[in-house]
Amino acid sequence: MSKSAIASLSPETTQDSIHTGLKADYRKTMSADLSEILAATYRLTIKSHVYHWNVVGPVFKPIHDLTEEHYNALFAATDIIAERIRALGHLAPVSFGMTKSFAPSKSEVDHASAQEMVSDLISEHEQAVRDMRVAAAKAGDNDDMVTEDMLTERLGFHEKALWMLRAIIAT
Ligand SMILES: [Fe+2]
Repeated sequence: MSKSAIASLSPETTQDSIHTGLKADYRKTMSADLSEILAATYRLTIKSHVYHWNVVGPVFKPIHDLTEEHYNALFAATDIIAERIRALGHLAPVSFGMTKSFAPSKSEVDHASAQEMVSDLISEHEQAVRDMRVAAAKAGDNDDMVTEDMLTERLGFHEKALWMLRAIIAT
C-alpha cells in the first residue's frame, strides 16, 4: 500500500463531518458523558466478576450465579456504548490503568461479607442509574433518540439488577 493510501486511511475521527441533524457540540458533550458511562460499566463488570469469584457464605451460589449473569451482560454493554460513541463521531478510548482505582484489592475481598459485596454493587448500580438518567434526558432534549433508546435499555438492565441484588440480601 502506498504511503498516500495509508495516510488517507487516517482516522480523523473528531473531524468527521456528520450531517445527521445532531449538533457537533451536542455530539461532543454526549460522547464525553457516554465515556463516563462506559467507564462505570467496566467498573461494574470487574467488580461483579471479582465478587463472583470471592463471595463466601450461605448465599454463595445465588450471588455467584447472579454476578455471572451481570458481568456477561455488562461486558456486552460496553461494546454497545463504545460503538455509540463512535457513531457520534468520537473516539472511544479506554485506559486500563484506571482499573487500578476500582478493581477490589485482595484486602478488600479477603474478609468482606456477601452483604458487603452486594451492598457495594448496589451503590455502583445506583450511581450508574443516576448518571444514565441524566444523559438519557439530555439525549431526548437533543432529538438523539438512538442514544436515548440505548440508555433507556441500559437503565432497564440496571434497575432490574438492583431489584435482584436487593432481594438476594434481604433478611
Ligand atoms: Fe465463573
